[in-house]
Amino acid sequence: MRILSGVQPSGELHLGNYFGAIEQHLRLQHEGEALYFIADYHALTTLQDAARLRELTRDVAATYLALGLDPELATFFRQSDVPEVHELTWLLECVTGMGLLERAHSYKDKVAKGIRPTVGLFTYPALMASDILIYRSSLVPVGQDQVQHVEIAQDMAQSFNAAFRCEALVRPEHRLSAVPKVPGTDGQKMSKSYGNAIPLFAQGKALKKAVNAIVTDSRDPKQGPLDPDTCNAFALYALFADAGERADLARAYREDRGFLGYGVTKKLLTEKIEARFGPARDRYAALKAPGSELDDVLRQGGLRARALAQETLEACREATGLGRRLT
Ligand code: ADP
Ligand code: TRP
Repeated sequence: MRILSGVQPSGELHLGNYFGAIEQHLRLQHEGEALYFIADYHALTTLQDAARLRELTRDVAATYLALGLDPELATFFRQSDVPEVHELTWLLECVTGMGLLERAHSYKDKVAKGIRPTVGLFTYPALMASDILIYRSSLVPVGQDQVQHVEIAQDMAQSFNAAFRCEALVRPEHRLSAVPKVPGTDGQKMSKSYGNAIPLFAQGKALKKAVNAIVTDSRDPKQGPLDPDTCNAFALYALFADAGERADLARAYREDRGFLGYGVTKKLLTEKIEARFGPARDRYAALKAPGSELDDVLRQGGLRARALAQETLEACREATGLGRRLT
């Protein structure tokens, strides 16, 4: 089984990215041949600042490595180290009806949020399909918001194979994490671009500030029961807590009139974040330092991924009649 996923270096990684994607990526590296990449070409649709892109690319790489990505198990690379994806994107675009991309939610959502509607933003799902198909990936672990993109990749693979009567491309399936939609501090989906994120490696004052920003209602626990099911702070705490801890806190919300309220939940959540991500924070800082092993890991991964991509692209070129590229 070949597993593939990508994360954009478009902002600091947060709890939503971790529970929606990273945790599952790290687990799956033990279950098949995994390829994970930093989607820097995709990030250009919204980030046009060279220094920032370079920095965020190293941030994402350091985060994955610090949290346990094993470069011996998984091929870890930068999307832009495999420029062949653009050639396959073109081949796919030529067999894809306009309607397929016109129906994509993410373009409409992003434009509604004020992101400039460029051609790149519109064709983003075609590049993503190419990312998936060029490695003949069978499984694509993603969060809920990316499922439609994997379906687009399925359609494109089928259209290509049908148009050229070949089996060059493999149909991928998505896999959702156990927590496909982590709420942000305001209760909307947590996202780098909504100002509602809790970063993975925040500490001290910054962590406190992020956790305190979680919106809760103003009910006084002394006056009556609180509802854990509609509480953002509880939902975030529940991501870290085991079943017993969850049940205890839920009981305090509903029954304990001496319960001190949402501040308690926020404190428990802060402790959980510290305990889970604190140990990786030093590794993260060391990996981000210039001259760490990070650059070599990405280089080796890029070379490996590129060789796989070239193989698929050759088969696709043959199928279309373009024929082998010159060497
Ligand atoms: P963002 O929305 O912060 O820009 P990305 O779009 O770069 O995040 O997402 C990277 C990965 O993390 C994707 O697989 C996406 O589905 C997942 N993800 C992002 N935010 C969340 C969230 N709030 N809950 C669950 N998964 C998420
Ligand atoms: N579009 C994905 C996101 O915003 C990132 C991505 C690019 C990706 N190419 C991919 C994810 C291929 C899975 C497979 O999160």
